Amino acid sequence: MTTEPRPWRRAWHDALYGENGFFRVSTPANHFSTSAHLGAFAGAVAEIVHRNGFASVVDLGAGGGEMLAALRPLVGADIELIGVELARRPPGLDPDIGWCEEMPQRIDGLLMANEWLDNIPCDIVEVDDAGVVRLLLVDATTGKESLGKPYRSAWLDEWWPLTRPGERAEVGDARDVAWADAVARVEGLAIAIDYGHTRTGGRPPLGTLRSYADGHEVDVVPDGSRDVTAHVAVDSVASATGSGILRQRDALAVLGIDGHRPPLDLARTEPADYLRALSVAGEAGELLARGGLGDFWWLVSDPRGRGTLEA
Ligand SMILES: C[S@@+](CC[C@H](N)C(=O)[O-])C[C@H]1O[C@@H](n2cnc3c(N)ncnc32)[C@H](O)[C@@H]1O
Repeated sequence: MTTEPRPWRRAWHDALYGENGFFRVSTPANHFSTSAHLGAFAGAVAEIVHRNGFASVVDLGAGGGEMLAALRPLVGADIELIGVELARRPPGLDPDIGWCEEMPQRIDGLLMANEWLDNIPCDIVEVDDAGVVRLLLVDATTGKESLGKPYRSAWLDEWWPLTRPGERAEVGDARDVAWADAVARVEGLAIAIDYGHTRTGGRPPLGTLRSYADGHEVDVVPDGSRDVTAHVAVDSVASATGSGILRQRDALAVLGIDGHRPPLDLARTEPADYLRALSVAGEAGELLARGGLGDFWWLVSDPRGRGTLEA
């Protein structure tokens, strides 16, 4: 079966967020793993809360609530924790963790968004044989693509200029706008974390559109059965929001997270503590790894000068 080809952005949106869209009916952790699934990541978030004396944490795109559940015992019952998520509240989540579909108008504290920006649907464009940039259309049931109308965009000109036939790009203006809207609500710190690229580091010439399901990379088809994601042009989002950008491994180092094993002496004197510390160090090592989660970008904004990662 085929359907009428549509611009990628619309097909992508419906595939993830339509009535039976992927994220409406699936839990991300059943399909892929993220930093938020590691307890040491919640440890880093707790450190930010303590350093700034924040009383509230909002997790935008909270998935299965894993990070908030791990954070609760680390920050204590007085800190307000809220998951903002289009999917239903996870069964078994601590009842004093809030859960809602809409972002609060004002966030007095910390806003986290881990792997949220990469799932914001974009227009996708490709340069045709004559050198004209065109909107890409997709058949949502097969993933077959076709070239549509010529496409002009100030965002592309500034952030991702295309020249050669066959080159593709994901047009990031929708992501800039979405994160700017989120940051504008914050009195404190806003942190978006994602995989990405920069203009100075080099854009991927064929774009980065990917799909994942059941723990594997699969064909990119916006049919609702799989994730659809593309890396984030983090320099553009940073420019739109006045954010600083740094790699996850550097952000975690500022927060004092390291992957060193605990001293062996501890194993003799306090074996339970040793095993706990060993597990945290293993997770920290994963979060810091070059070529892995450590390469993710942190976009850090303190829109009203009220928050910092520093001690
Ligand atoms: C890749 S998952 C990341 C989940 C979690 N943050 C993690 O790191 O494991 C992206 C999540 O963002 C949610 N999401 C996307 N757009 C959203 C929006 N506008 N409001 C609330 N949740 C949204 C999706 O439903 C999905 O659960």
